Amino acid sequence: MSVSSPLIGTKFYRPQSRPGLVARPRLDERLDRGAEGRLTLVSAPVGFGKTTVLAAWLDRDGGRGRDGDGPAVGPAVGRPVAWLSLDARDSRPATFWAYLVAALQSVVPEVGAGVLPLLQTGQVPTEAVLTTVLNQLAALPDGVTLVLDDYHLADGPVIAEGMGYVLEHLPPQVHLVISTRADPGLPLSRLRARGELVEVRAADLRFTPEEASAYLAAATGLALSADAVTTLEARTEGWIAALQLAALSLRGRPDVDAFVATFAGEDRYIVDYLVDEVLARQPEHLRTFLLRTSVLDRLSGPLCDAVTGGDGGRATLDGLDRANLFVLPLDDHRRWYRYHHLFADVLQLHLRDERPDEVAQLHARASRWYERAGEPVPAARSYQRLARSATPCRPGTSTAPPPSSSWPCPRCAATGRRGPSGVGSTTCPTTWWPAGRSWRSASSAR
Ligand SMILES: Nc1ncnc2c1ncn2[C@@H]1O[C@H](COP(=O)(O)OP(=O)(O)OP(=O)(O)O)[C@@H](O)[C@H]1O
Ligand SMILES: [Mg+2]
Repeated sequence: MSVSSPLIGTKFYRPQSRPGLVARPRLDERLDRGAEGRLTLVSAPVGFGKTTVLAAWLDRDGGRGRDGDGPAVGPAVGRPVAWLSLDARDSRPATFWAYLVAALQSVVPEVGAGVLPLLQTGQVPTEAVLTTVLNQLAALPDGVTLVLDDYHLADGPVIAEGMGYVLEHLPPQVHLVISTRADPGLPLSRLRARGELVEVRAADLRFTPEEASAYLAAATGLALSADAVTTLEARTEGWIAALQLAALSLRGRPDVDAFVATFAGEDRYIVDYLVDEVLARQPEHLRTFLLRTSVLDRLSGPLCDAVTGGDGGRATLDGLDRANLFVLPLDDHRRWYRYHHLFADVLQLHLRDERPDEVAQLHARASRWYERAGEPVPAARSYQRLARSATPCRPGTSTAPPPSSSWPCPRCAATGRRGPSGVGSTTCPTTWWPAGRSWRSASSAR
């Protein structure tokens, strides 16, 4: 994010829990206990149900901001909830702090007054700036719960130092929840020793045999034998993402026991195998849609249509959502979604294997769509991906013009405006124009 870039609003959207989730009261109780202290750490690998358990807990508590009218159950009741979904771009300290303060401000507008504009000018906050925010938090009558989801994507020494300072001075009515795939670089042992840390880890998040059984019955609609449930639970080790993939593969299958008996191995292999199974069972048009749109960080109907070259993107996304096919809504109107990371990773591998020639074109289409929609930051990001996915520069071979003639050639980084200037082939930018012309003649012909 540069200085004055607008903040992406969907990052503040707290996921709502789906109907039909397996209730996990033992984890709710742990989270209730955590809310009495300073920090709750939810730390487990990909797809262990971290985000879901937090969303369900906050839903149960009616943590919907100040106007929340949910049932008064746990100790987080009455506190507004600020949610921030982090991503890799937030590892830049100025971006991280701007988003963190904006997340707080989205539910308690008085926090961050005077500070947010400063942070948005790209200034890395000093202790003085953080102290101002902490004092504003201390003055809140109802306090606030701040959830930082996917914290591992932003973590780094500079951010850890600032977060350490914030934690050390956090007012008692403020509670921090960190959800992460890897333990953060924070003074956890000190907090643990003082009884100020409650942890929810992979061992806690693993589905118990009873939870797995309830999940499989609801998700497959099948009366699975006790042996089949035990095998699935044991092979996935209660890893819900793998259980979910298994359930999707089982739907409508006549040979359930045979299928259950065939899959073995662990972690990545199970996921690859199960995603293959799920993909193979989709109709061809849907499979193609999934592969092509896997290049996108966020999905909307019009953006999907632009990237796939088809129509009906919105309806397809609705259908994926209803089928619980690893899409997560990013807003209440279900205009924006994203794929579950685990699913997107495997889809992208399939895309590169099966349709390597399409990858650059898909990124180019996404980039142009964002550019037209007036979103330069994601446009630039898609364009960088296009650059990374393009093969080395071969003059006159590109079919994907950049959104703007001042952008670099994705193949050799030469810009249209400046010409190749020693980078790549001297005729490279002619790839945007008919092959064989020099850059100068092509440029003046425009
Ligand atoms: N209690 C539950 N009942 C039914 N399904 C669940 C439950 N918990 C998680 N899931 C499903 O498991 C999948 C993974 O869950 P989730 O996205 O919460 O994992 P995560 O640990 O946050 O993953 P990541 O590290 O990628 O962020 C989701 O599709 C979710 O719907
Ligand atoms: Mg998550």
